[in-house]
Amino acid sequence: MLFSLCSLLSLFVDSIGAATLNKRASVSGTASVHLDVSTGSPQQLASGVLYGIPDQANQIPDKFYTDIGFKYNRAGGAQLSGGGWIGSFAGYQTRFRSALSNYHTTRKYGGTFILLPHDIWGADGQQASDAVYPGDNGDWSNYDAFLSQLISDMKANNMIDHVVVDIWNEPDLTAFWNRPQSQYLELWGRTYHRLQQDLPGCATSGPSFAGAPSASNSWWTNWASFITANKSIPTQYSWHMEGGGGDMQSSVAAYKSILQSNGLATNHVVNINEYGVWAEQVPSGSAWWIAQLERVNAFGLRGNWLSGEALHDFLAGLVGKPNAVSGYNYTAGGYWPTPAWQVYKYYSRNMTGTRVQTSPTADLRGEVYAVVGTNTVRLLVGSRAATGTFNVQLENLSAVGLPESGTLNVHTWGFPSTDDHYARLDGPTDLGLYGHPYSGNSLSFPIYQTDVYTAYAFEFGI
Ligand SMILES: *[C@@H]1O[C@H](CO)[C@@H](O)[C@H](O)[C@H]1NC(C)=O
Ligand SMILES: *[C@@H]1O[C@H](CO)[C@@H](O)[C@H](O)[C@H]1NC(C)=O
Ligand SMILES: *[C@@H]1O[C@H](CO)[C@@H](O)[C@H](O)[C@H]1NC(C)=O
Ligand SMILES: *[C@@H]1O[C@H](CO)[C@@H](O)[C@H](O)[C@H]1NC(C)=O
Repeated sequence: MLFSLCSLLSLFVDSIGAATLNKRASVSGTASVHLDVSTGSPQQLASGVLYGIPDQANQIPDKFYTDIGFKYNRAGGAQLSGGGWIGSFAGYQTRFRSALSNYHTTRKYGGTFILLPHDIWGADGQQASDAVYPGDNGDWSNYDAFLSQLISDMKANNMIDHVVVDIWNEPDLTAFWNRPQSQYLELWGRTYHRLQQDLPGCATSGPSFAGAPSASNSWWTNWASFITANKSIPTQYSWHMEGGGGDMQSSVAAYKSILQSNGLATNHVVNINEYGVWAEQVPSGSAWWIAQLERVNAFGLRGNWLSGEALHDFLAGLVGKPNAVSGYNYTAGGYWPTPAWQVYKYYSRNMTGTRVQTSPTADLRGEVYAVVGTNTVRLLVGSRAATGTFNVQLENLSAVGLPESGTLNVHTWGFPSTDDHYARLDGPTDLGLYGHPYSGNSLSFPIYQTDVYTAYAFEFGI
């Protein structure tokens, strides 16, 4: 989302505090792990961040990227001074240079960079109410000049490899596109073909709508029929999951159905290039998102709920530093890991092997992600900002070489947190071993999700 309203929203979430969040939703039911169904290798699909990378090279130390299997960054100099292209040429240069710096950092760690032209243009949510948009009054000359400058700067700076151009962010929100849908579709067609012509093979993504796919969403249905007729099919299909509702299985099913009804292939990369509301960006919600994204093989980038220079810092809430909230200093270092970062580290460093199929609780609030390693099975469990007791059921224990009945010694780790997203956590808490008797080739055990923050990891030998 990423506009000034969002910082209001995060203040609101902070002020309602833990007590209210605890009451917000409850989780119950059973999440299952199908040990006999492999779903391929883990790729840290969820380890991406929207903005969050400082423009000063090497400001956040290497390990904060490498230990989480960092995959994606998405940026375009939003909210930096000068207002972007529509402010002045200097405003354009400030934002392009910021994006270029973030691209270099992303490539240093082997990631892919998603470029945000709408922010470089200046439609970053903080533009004036009379700001101009591409194609106003049917005149595209200003936008054509903008694209010429951008493409020429990308070429001059060798900013092509591992770049995805995200044609326009959230045109379905007036904060980013306060113009008719028809003008957006024309922007899409023009930009797509211009990029193919001037940067052959350039990867693109879209529509990056704020709204998840749905047959009743005319932004989605009209866009899908437009790109079919216009032959402007992006490399990656992208949308956002930042409303605190919906889920990946149903939104991917809706996206496939919209594409199929237009005769389009459904085998492209799906990239949820903004996921997670503020309240979900804690260990348990992070585990929930990891399980959701891995299940449907979608990449994801953590949404960013900060503003101004802080938007360009903190890896979308994964790292903290002194004076993060008051007395903030953009270029200062002193970074530490947050509780959520420890979840991504465990996900990347420890959850190796082969993924196995899992399913969430029927209320969709309890989740489990699971991998079978050489001699250990590892589960990552969390809820979506919900409290309650739910179960994790391990099915087909014999599929990993265990007897059909006996006692399973499960090692539990906790990733605790509070509503202070910047708190320091140096590692998970060892919650010890527990021997669960089981029979019938399956074992169900309870998760006491007594707060909305804690994620759990469970490990057992095979
Ligand atoms: C795609 O749409 C753009 C914008 O309307 C238009 O300029 C272009 O000619 C269209 N291309 C095709 C192949 O229809
Ligand atoms: C901000 O941090 C940088 C880097 O540590 C330092 O050089 C600068 O003096 C700090 N600025 C303020 C206002 O403290
Ligand atoms: C994760 O793996 C590292 C490296 O093998 C190990 O030191 C650490 O104890 C593991 N963490 C947990 C929670 O199992
Ligand atoms: C896995 O367990 C289910 C439910 O107990 C059973 O129907 C299925 O046949 C089992 N699959 C294998 C490969 O054992």
